[in-house]
Amino acid sequence: MSTTTGPILSVEALHVKYGLFEAVFGISLEVGPGEAVCLLGGNGAGKTTSLRAILGALPIAAGRVRFLGEDVAGATAGAITARGMIYVPEGRELFPSMTVQENLELGAITREARARMRTSMELACELFPILAKRRTQLAGTLSGGQQQMVAIARGLMGLPRLLMLDEPSLGLAPVVVEQVYEALGRIVRSGTPIILVEQHVHHALELCQRGYVLESGRIVQHGSTAELAASDRLRSAYLGVD
Ligand SMILES: Nc1ncnc2c1ncn2[C@@H]1O[C@H](COP(=O)(O)OP(=O)(O)OP(=O)(O)O)[C@@H](O)[C@H]1O
Ligand SMILES: [Mg+2]
Repeated sequence: MSTTTGPILSVEALHVKYGLFEAVFGISLEVGPGEAVCLLGGNGAGKTTSLRAILGALPIAAGRVRFLGEDVAGATAGAITARGMIYVPEGRELFPSMTVQENLELGAITREARARMRTSMELACELFPILAKRRTQLAGTLSGGQQQMVAIARGLMGLPRLLMLDEPSLGLAPVVVEQVYEALGRIVRSGTPIILVEQHVHHALELCQRGYVLESGRIVQHGSTAELAASDRLRSAYLGVD
C-alpha cells in the first residue's frame, strides 16, 4: 500500500450524470492527512452523488479522482473500498435481520481488517458502549441513534484511511446527535481523515477544519470552517442568521 505525504484524496473537475441529467458539474476538492472536511449544501445539491461517484459506486462522466496517490477513477466501489475509502451511507443501510455483531463483522472487508477484527470491535465498543450491551440484538430493532452508531462502527471495522460520513445526524434527537458528534471528534483526533456531509451545519463546522459548499452540483464556496461560519452566504442560507 502506498504511503503518501500528499493529499489523501484529490478530486478534480468531477462530473456525474444520471442519464441526461447532470447532477455534479465539475467539482474539485481535497482532503489532506488527518484532515476533517465537510461538504455542505441543501437537499438535492449533489452531496451524496459526489461521495458515491468518488467511491466508485456511480459512474464518473468526467474528471480525476486520486486516492492515496493513485488514480482510482473508473475503479469499482469494491476495489476502492478495499483500499480504505469507507462510506457510511445516508440512511445507515444496516442488515436489519442480522445482529449488531454480525453487522459489525461485515465491515471488516479486507484480510487485514478481518485479522484485526477483535481489536477493532473493542475500539468500536469503547467509542459506543451501547454496542457491547446490544451485541446480540437484531440491528432492525435498535433505535435510530443506535443504528447510526452501528453504521459508523461498521465503517471503522474496515480500517478506514478515509471515512466518508453521509448525514450521520439525520433524524436523530439532539442529545443523540451530541453523542454521535462526540464520537466523531474522537475519530478525527485519532488521525483518521474524514469527509462529512451534513445538514446540521453548525456541528459540521465545529468538527471540521475545512469545508466546501455545494449548490445545484457546483461548489460555490470553500475555505476554513472559521471563514465559512463567518460568511454571509452560509449564515443566511443554512444557519438561519440574517
Ligand atoms: N438515481 C438517480 N436518478 C436520477 N436522478 C438522481 C438520482 N439520485 C439523485 N438524483 C438527482 O441528483 C441530484 C443530487 O442528488 P443527491 O442525492 O446527490 O443530493 P444530496 O445533496 O445528497 O441531497 P440530500 O441532502 O437530500 O440527501 C438531485 O437533483 C436528485 O434528484
Ligand atoms: Mg444525500
